Amino acid sequence: MDKKVILTGDRPTGKLHLGHYVGSLRNRIKLQNSGNYDVFVFVADLQALTDNAHNPQKIRDSLKEVALDYLAVGLDPAKTTIFVQSQVPELTELTTYYMNLVTVARLKRNPTIKTEINLRGFGEAVPIGFLNYPVSQAADITAFNAHYVPVGEDQLPLIEQCREIVHTFNSTYGEVLRMPEIMLEENSACKRLPGIDGKAKMSKSLGNCIFLSDDKETVRTKVMSMYTDPKHIKVEDPGNVEDNAVFTYLDAFATDEDFVKYLPEYKNLDELKDHYRRGGLGDVKVKKFLIDVLEGILEPIRERRKYYEEHLDLVYKMLDEGSKKARVVAGETLKKVRAAIGINYFE
Ligand code: TRP
Repeated sequence: MDKKVILTGDRPTGKLHLGHYVGSLRNRIKLQNSGNYDVFVFVADLQALTDNAHNPQKIRDSLKEVALDYLAVGLDPAKTTIFVQSQVPELTELTTYYMNLVTVARLKRNPTIKTEINLRGFGEAVPIGFLNYPVSQAADITAFNAHYVPVGEDQLPLIEQCREIVHTFNSTYGEVLRMPEIMLEENSACKRLPGIDGKAKMSKSLGNCIFLSDDKETVRTKVMSMYTDPKHIKVEDPGNVEDNAVFTYLDAFATDEDFVKYLPEYKNLDELKDHYRRGGLGDVKVKKFLIDVLEGILEPIRERRKYYEEHLDLVYKMLDEGSKKARVVAGETLKKVRAAIGINYFE
């Protein structure tokens, strides 16, 4: 039987951080290594350009960083097709056909787009390309016949938009496109990792990130500065583990083996939390444990990143080859789409 197809991408607007890791990257590696899926992962540089048209250097630089982060976390080009959106022009052509099936009013009502337009203060001066990016995203998804799209909850309205386009296309021109489904992360700590300042979301614009490429000393300093329970002042004070970013990170990252390795006086996170709640457990001890846990994850990532930073030619070659593979698949979909619309005049 054919394998189910999984597709997802990231806008290249900076380096990837721990929020990306628990929210998405870690799961991609699992899906990739399960051998049960055909996995496509791509750098959405066209989408990033829709609100960075005047700063293409940022996209160029970030493309490299994101590709390095991909390889560093263990995405393997032998198992996963890793490609660059702009190098697959079939996607742009598909976008053109889908644009006729969506209204401006519908796009303006899309909750994700609405929020992002407000966030950027575009108002009526929103670039057409930006307003249109959900349509382009539908092209990304359908070109590869994706069954599942693993993304964060904030992307739900975009997947919904894609499903509408698929429905309209298929009912207008015949059943050509596959109806995709969103694949959501279940662990709530992973769904939305808070920043080191305790704010709701780890985000580059809030400046509260731990990056996958941060060195050991930076990680240490950042964790030591982390927001905990403001009422937990003395070690003896009872502490709150809810709304306490250090414990949320432990929820997302710590395993029972980490306790055996680094903190054997506790069996698991529940025991550690109980002690913190009772009082008598200081923040520094918990933070030191978190540093050990994070280092266990980040150290191998750092090492692989370093290797590829020294072999950038391999990184670009990998993206080039992945993009060529992706063009073949997208090209097949495009051919069917053209035929369905009836613009295959010379066949
Ligand atoms: N919108 C996604 C983001 O902001 C990137 C993206 C572009 C994407 N096209 C996609 C994700 C298709 C999943 C499927 O990160």
